[in-house]
Amino acid sequence: MELDGIQKRIEAMKSHLTEDSPLMGNPGEAKIDRQVEKAVEASHKAVVATEKEIGEDADKPKGPVGLDIGTSFIVAAQNKLNYIHSVKQANAFFTVPKSKFAKSILNKNEVLYYEQGEQYYIVGFSAENFANMFNTNTRRPIKDGLLSPTERDAITVIQSLVGTLIQRPKFFGETLCFAIPGEPLCSTGSVVYHEAMIKRFLSLMGYTPISINEGMAVVISELADDDFTGIGISMGGGMCNICLSYLSFPVITYSLQMAGDYIDSKVGLSLGEPATKIKTIKEEGLDLSKEPKDRMMTALHIFYDELIANLIASLERALTTSDQIPKIAKPIPIVLSGGSARPNGCVDKFAEALKQVSLPIEISAVRLAEDPFNTTAKGALIMAMTEAA
Ligand SMILES: Nc1ncnc2c1ncn2[C@@H]1O[C@H](COP(=O)(O)OP(=O)(O)O)[C@@H](O)[C@H]1O
Ligand SMILES: [Mg+2]
Repeated sequence: MELDGIQKRIEAMKSHLTEDSPLMGNPGEAKIDRQVEKAVEASHKAVVATEKEIGEDADKPKGPVGLDIGTSFIVAAQNKLNYIHSVKQANAFFTVPKSKFAKSILNKNEVLYYEQGEQYYIVGFSAENFANMFNTNTRRPIKDGLLSPTERDAITVIQSLVGTLIQRPKFFGETLCFAIPGEPLCSTGSVVYHEAMIKRFLSLMGYTPISINEGMAVVISELADDDFTGIGISMGGGMCNICLSYLSFPVITYSLQMAGDYIDSKVGLSLGEPATKIKTIKEEGLDLSKEPKDRMMTALHIFYDELIANLIASLERALTTSDQIPKIAKPIPIVLSGGSARPNGCVDKFAEALKQVSLPIEISAVRLAEDPFNTTAKGALIMAMTEAA
């Protein structure tokens, strides 16, 4: 976008924003200028993404950080001069009993691990390699989007995984914004506990942690040119997060504990195959724009249709039962992000299914986020930058 365009956008936004908009820190014209300007500019930067190499040192951030602690991956994003840099780590672990022999093997192979009690905790991509070797699955600290109630060490593992991506900040108290899910529609899992536990260790690391709703992070990352008005949907492994934002205010937020993992397990159960096998085939070959050719593709289509139908039904319910829906003059966009929005044809399937319902707000278009795997971390980074300005 031209700088001119950015300037115009800032003026337009300033006229809408009020002091308690989430993009606003303390009031003050100059500060508001700086914050909005930074947010809009950063959202136009491209993301350069890398995977954390085993043996590579963690970064020491010199500025604000955006963090996405998802069911499948943890992604950390930082602002660079001309781009946004994101690094990801698998959000997984694997334990083996302590022994001198095991220790020497782990050290020789530069495996990421720490010791606790009688076990070695192998973490991140290393854990995936190990689990494959033992022909089993990794363990996961996050289940269905929230700290796993069945893993006692979940938070210690996450702390160690975050530590492989970022060290303590260069400047004590650096702003770090992390994404949290919306309240799940049909579960008793506690977002409050999840958020508070993550905040605690980030504070101990020397950061000033703030949280952002995951769907809102999608809006902040993708909808600067729409005055941050629209619906952001993040479709990950454990859950889908939905947020209706009006001029950068989150009006409606919620989550659905049904996403990529659900599809894998349902297809697996229906065909008598392990979910991990389905996941690999899904990620390598699923094209939702083409008629399915075999039994597995047919099943993947069926459960994608079910997931999308559920998402849209929940959206219809949320929008028609809320008394907070603002009067929005123009039709608004829906942005899909996350790994599960990745298959070819997902956006079209969503748009097609949307035609079957009538929402109280008109939708202009359904589109895919610029970089679906990094959208949440990018949005969180932009929020951290505006708060730190
Ligand atoms: N190309 C792909 N096609 C379909 N699903 C994918 C693809 N790549 C990743 N996924 C799915 O996306 C989900 C992970 O989403 P992602 O946004 O990366 O992480 P998180 O679960 O941490 O939010 C998993 O269910 C994975 O199987
Ligand atoms: Mg995610």
